[in-house]
Amino acid sequence: MSRQIISMKVNGFQHRLEVPANKRLIDVLRSDLALTGTKEGCGVGVCGACTVLLDGRAVSACLTFAFAANGAEIQTIEGLAQGGELHPLQTAFVEKGGLQCGYCTPGQIMAAKALLDEIPAPSVAEIKHAMMGNLCRC
Ligand code: FES
Repeated sequence: MSRQIISMKVNGFQHRLEVPANKRLIDVLRSDLALTGTKEGCGVGVCGACTVLLDGRAVSACLTFAFAANGAEIQTIEGLAQGGELHPLQTAFVEKGGLQCGYCTPGQIMAAKALLDEIPAPSVAEIKHAMMGNLCRC
């Protein structure tokens, strides 16, 4: 398998990595960068547990090749809290009981962040549409 050198900024930190051409973004995040907040559920782009932001757009990290993130800015759940303070979305999920086992929560929050970054006051229909790719099995 050929290898490629990629660079990407993850949660504000620049990284340069040599990866196999078929390595997935989720594996780079979890294995190479130890950012295990991003979860793998289905592994085939159905559950949303692996949702991260790639240049501000919500993507399934299990379906994204690492090389596709070359030169991109990635944000994961670990990048939301600042200075020990939870992001308002994280606080809202906690306060409203928007988590149960917690496995899908990082993906849910990142999908919600992508939505609110694009549409600060979404309609119920826009929320349903944006979140329909994130499943909770609880
Ligand atoms: Fe990526 Fe389910 S693990 S969508």
